[in-house]
Amino acid sequence: MTVMVTGGAGYIGSHTVKELLKRNYRVVIVDNFSTGHRELIPGGDLVQADLRSPEELKKVFQSYPVEAVLHFAALIQVGESYADPQKYYLHNLFSSLNLLRAMLESGVKYFIFSSSAAVYGQPLATPIQEDHPLSPINPYGASKFMIERILPDYDRAYGLKYVSLRYFNAAGADPEGQLGEWHQPETHLIPNIMLHLLGRNPGFQVFGQDFPTPDGTAIRDYIHVTDLARAHVLALEKLRSENQSQVINLGSSRGYSVLEVIRTAEKVTGKKVDLKFGPRRPGDVPVLLASSLKAETWLGWQREFSDLEFIIETAWNWHRKS
Ligand SMILES: NC(=O)c1ccc[n+]([C@@H]2O[C@H](COP(=O)([O-])OP(=O)(O)OC[C@H]3O[C@@H](n4cnc5c(N)ncnc54)[C@H](O)[C@@H]3O)[C@@H](O)[C@H]2O)c1
Repeated sequence: MTVMVTGGAGYIGSHTVKELLKRNYRVVIVDNFSTGHRELIPGGDLVQADLRSPEELKKVFQSYPVEAVLHFAALIQVGESYADPQKYYLHNLFSSLNLLRAMLESGVKYFIFSSSAAVYGQPLATPIQEDHPLSPINPYGASKFMIERILPDYDRAYGLKYVSLRYFNAAGADPEGQLGEWHQPETHLIPNIMLHLLGRNPGFQVFGQDFPTPDGTAIRDYIHVTDLARAHVLALEKLRSENQSQVINLGSSRGYSVLEVIRTAEKVTGKKVDLKFGPRRPGDVPVLLASSLKAETWLGWQREFSDLEFIIETAWNWHRKS
């Protein structure tokens, strides 16, 4: 089976390509390298194209017998999305509409969408279940929410079958050491700790120490990127066998505060973080924690790598050699 992976040169996309290739899928990666890296591509065919261009997309669907699309390509910086929302709606929303149109024109009916916990906004209760109200509080989250809102209409009218996977915090690196997290600029906690401990990022700031949590720092749910990647393969298999659209959280159901992550990183690496505290960032919520029950029951998903020490160990191994 041939599958298209948009954003396959990015962090989560590249790890998923690796899992798909291991299971003998034929993979065609579509990426414009705006934030991705050729060095992260583990195999498969590559088409350099921009999803904002309907013509470029059409050509890819004409050239490959694509049967399903896994759509990772997007811009992901929440802060930037406040400053330049148009950029986010063009890259994330408009691109996705182009992609869906090209899929429908080519008769492709299976779609796996990289959504985000950002669609929930300020949680009313944790752990967050999939039926929690959606109320994104930044343009990045809103762009994901809008695509999620569109998908049921496309299912009803055109028979498009989809799985929206709402990731919590993807973290860690390929346990075999081939791939890792490489964002520029890096806004995620664990890679920033790694870069700091390697001396590539002198000041390390924790945003907020007055959250209503036991140690005052924000609590997040970290999920190993290879566990995430495997969930995509399961979602694809399930979608094909059951032909039923779904929305599924991908998290670990276990939260760690920023300080707990820092202390674990110090333990794993044997190095000390030079800690400074700054104010909260706008839109940061105290606790984000997934209920992963549906992923376990519907997908049959088991997390193998999402222990925090292992996440940090794999991230550390990757950052040290890259
Ligand atoms: N990293 C996380 O913790 C996290 C959490 C929730 C959701 N997500 C979602 O997962 C997906 C992947 O995130 P990531 O961390 O791997 O990001 P990434 O920046 O590493 O990868 C995104 C990839 O998409 C490509 N791309 C972007 N715009 C494109 C366009 N218009 N045309 C073609 N290619 C384009 C980039 O070049 C890059 O290779 C995104 O949709 C993101 O919103 C990520």
